[in-house]
Amino acid sequence: MGAIEVRDLALAYGETRAVDGVSFEVAEGEFFGILGPNGAGKTTTLEMIEGLREPDAGEITVLGERPWPRNGALLPRIGVQLQASSFFERLTAREQISTFAALYGVGADHAEEWLERVGMVEKADTRVENLSGGQMQRLSIACALVHDPDVVFLDEPTAALDPQARRNLWDVLGSLNDSGRTVVLTTHHMDEAEVLCDRVAIMDRGRILELDSPGALVRGLDAATRITVSPELVSALDVAAIGGVDSSALYPPKKFFGAARNIEDGGSLTIFATALVETGSMMDTVIFEEFKGTGNAELKLDRKISDKRIFPAIDVNPSSTRKEELLLAPDELAINVKLRQVLSGLDSQQAINLLLDRLRKTRTNIEFQMQVSKSTPGNGDD
Ligand SMILES: Nc1ncnc2c1ncn2[C@@H]1O[C@H](COP(=O)(O)OP(=O)(O)OP(=O)(O)O)[C@@H](O)[C@H]1O
Ligand SMILES: [Mg+2]
Repeated sequence: MGAIEVRDLALAYGETRAVDGVSFEVAEGEFFGILGPNGAGKTTTLEMIEGLREPDAGEITVLGERPWPRNGALLPRIGVQLQASSFFERLTAREQISTFAALYGVGADHAEEWLERVGMVEKADTRVENLSGGQMQRLSIACALVHDPDVVFLDEPTAALDPQARRNLWDVLGSLNDSGRTVVLTTHHMDEAEVLCDRVAIMDRGRILELDSPGALVRGLDAATRITVSPELVSALDVAAIGGVDSSALYPPKKFFGAARNIEDGGSLTIFATALVETGSMMDTVIFEEFKGTGNAELKLDRKISDKRIFPAIDVNPSSTRKEELLLAPDELAINVKLRQVLSGLDSQQAINLLLDRLRKTRTNIEFQMQVSKSTPGNGDD
């Protein structure tokens, strides 16, 4: 049974058919996105599932229960972040979340834990009216989660944030269903759905137009199918993102690049993640265009690796940086050559897996290189 089941849901405000026959299921532990332009019916759909509005028609179950009329058994098991988040006036961030915790009967330690998880400890003593938009969003997400609900609803949690703040928040959002929690999120942005969601329903004018994994939606658009949507429904930016040409869709590879930079201390790890792509795939071309500014980068991505859900799906052996001898100190270069030799003896999946595993287990480039140096044959002879 799904965590959420919605069948033939409908609601009209007067003449406006805000939700007009919507059906979908969300599996337990799934990160589910509802993507659509202003007025598509996203918030109205969520409000009915949350038990805040009575549907005109249709069936809803959440965790096997009916949310309407308001269901006391369900409330502690769901967390809701409303689109227009409302806080208690004049309270500090810590007082806000502690109040939520108290209302749910959970301990203050939970409140503190969530402040930390959303990166709000430093601002804990700031009154809500003095928080930035991003900080308010973080706080309201923490408040929605403080009682550790099984299902959480987030209505445009990244709206009105600058691109950097939006991406920072993705890290928090991405970890929300790590423990098997079900997450339903609404967004205007395909790039966001692509980063966060297992499946996405594309909604417009009260109806679901498409429902699939973001990858399949993007691939589907890559193929012969064409969807025509008039410009007032979806912005050019959103369309670009669906087609895979919005560079912000490159967040995952960039995050990897960034991670490599963070641990390399000005050094060399990006050589395993830099690019020349000749696969003919639209997405690869975009990635290449985005990163070719570095000029000396060669990266080969491999569909077989991504099919195994290994990310980044880099075929490490043919990927490298040109003239790495100019970039690396001689001892680093020697270690690198050894690493290359080891990796070249493995198939591409084993190679990237080994590399990722080692990278995860070490915190700095030096530590990583020491590890490689210690664990590869020929150690100590140079
Ligand atoms: N309380 C209301 N009374 C009348 N009409 C409403 C009300 N709430 C929403 N609507 C209308 O219902 C439709 C769907 O609105 P809804 O808020 O569900 O869209 P949305 O997808 O959440 O949009 P947004 O991206 O702007 O948040 C819109 O046409 C909206 O104008
Ligand atoms: Mg809305």
